[in-house]
Amino acid sequence: MSTTVFVNDEYEHDDRWTAVDAYGVSNLHTKEKSNEILNEALHHIQDSGMPDDSTYPAFGKFLALHARSVKAKHILEVGLLGGYTAIWYLLQIPDARVTALEISPLHSKVSSENAQRAGVADRLEIITGPAVESLRKIKSEVASGIRPKFDFTFIDADKENNWAYFDYAADLSNSGAPIVVDNVIRKGWIVLDEHVNEPPVAGAREVIEKAGNDPRVDSCLLQTVSEKNYDGFLYALVK
Ligand SMILES: C[S@@+](CC[C@H](N)C(=O)[O-])C[C@H]1O[C@@H](n2cnc3c(N)ncnc32)[C@H](O)[C@@H]1O
Repeated sequence: MSTTVFVNDEYEHDDRWTAVDAYGVSNLHTKEKSNEILNEALHHIQDSGMPDDSTYPAFGKFLALHARSVKAKHILEVGLLGGYTAIWYLLQIPDARVTALEISPLHSKVSSENAQRAGVADRLEIITGPAVESLRKIKSEVASGIRPKFDFTFIDADKENNWAYFDYAADLSNSGAPIVVDNVIRKGWIVLDEHVNEPPVAGAREVIEKAGNDPRVDSCLLQTVSEKNYDGFLYALVK
């Protein structure tokens, strides 16, 4: 089964990036059973008419391996879409649980179906609604001891709220927990004057600049190219 199931003209393409991703996937992913499960999830997302916004396979696997390397048991994902990255974590870490925040009832439903097919639905908690509201409730549950803190957070929702999500995640994380904020390079637009005031770009700059002044974390910025785009992520480690 092919790994690339979407083509989206909004993405920046370079044949070398696509070829390198294909080379990496064919050598490092295809022998694993998870590859088929995850490709089926991508097809179900596409067949459900949802956007082509899942992470690309190498990044999904990187996030899951990284969460595994820090022995994450409680993972927070802000922006679930069809559950692609959530299923990556749950397949890589058999005793992990994912709490996923998603605003769209359709996306929650498709994610739940994908998690059922992958055999991980009992470890995926989906909270449907605006993530800021869900995080406010989660924070009070953590404060009252009925919910544990998180060991790994992936922020990948509406970019305008990046900082609000990061701020909650920093408070809701155990010491040593990574926080990854996706899509903050945006084809380099974060440093191009003609783009810096566009809301998603401004949201990327806000979280980068505030993280840099935040005593709760140590952070860096990583650029990536892939079959999907020139983009990248903010990586923070909670002290
Ligand atoms: C980029 S997609 C997430 C992709 C997913 N992390 C993956 O790689 O498989 C962004 C998701 O965030 C959701 N979203 C957008 N605004 C939101 C909000 N205010 N609260 C919660 N979810 C939101 C969208 O509905 C969409 O499903």
